[in-house]
Amino acid sequence: MSTSASKPRSIVGGNWKMNTDKSSAFALARAVAQGVSQAHLHSRVDVAVFPPFPYLLPVAEALAAFPGAVMLGAQDCYIADKGAFTGEVSVPMLKDCGVQAVLVGHSERRHVIHEGDDLIEAKVQAVLNAGLTCVLCVGEKLEQRETGQTNTINERQVRNGLKHVSADLLKRVVIAYEPVWAIGTGKTATPADAQSAQHAIRNVLADMFGDQPAAAVRIQYGGSMNAANAASLMAEVDVNGGLIGGASLKPEDFLAIIKAAAH
Ligand code: PGA
Repeated sequence: MSTSASKPRSIVGGNWKMNTDKSSAFALARAVAQGVSQAHLHSRVDVAVFPPFPYLLPVAEALAAFPGAVMLGAQDCYIADKGAFTGEVSVPMLKDCGVQAVLVGHSERRHVIHEGDDLIEAKVQAVLNAGLTCVLCVGEKLEQRETGQTNTINERQVRNGLKHVSADLLKRVVIAYEPVWAIGTGKTATPADAQSAQHAIRNVLADMFGDQPAAAVRIQYGGSMNAANAASLMAEVDVNGGLIGGASLKPEDFLAIIKAAAH
């Protein structure tokens, strides 16, 4: 299994959720891209921001001023390319806006919007078949952790989400381990708890795809990661970056996390 010498390149994502407006989204994207570019952080770590759909284009414009520094991401997608799906946004539409990565199965989609396993699995396929990076989010709820089901839940979500993914397509998959009880609560998993869950996820990937493809998959931690706790979480061997909500809305905090990932 992976050692620190073989740690894959980290990836840090800023999940803005349903926050910002047109001008603050532009300003935030610009500040992040400028900070990454000036410190050449993109030579050591991949960075992405996931703005709300209406702000993808202004954010794309802000990022374009600093080529290669920050990837444009989307928070969700639909499974069909076009047609009678009122309110939905397709992967080709996202690509047309410059999107390179898409979040799938975020806990707020699973538990607030009630997306099921089959829909999530189809979204993974839609994203990968379009040639984009898929960030598959998994994680247990508090009562599941307290009843010892953490690894079982993560395994089910990983196996289901990647059911029809080949080892070749796996190269464009990132897993975000986000314990539901840690998201937006200020309660962070300890580095040891994150490592334990993420090591178990890598073992599932190894069982599905083999040791080498599994070792190359980036597994992010998400859930109240901030500038103060990022370095200790990302020091763990199976923590390859973070998916950041609240702290990604402040450029100085988000840049501090990216710097921690670059070290
Ligand atoms: P948080 O959100 O950093 O605000 O806990 C993380 C996420 O939901 O991706």
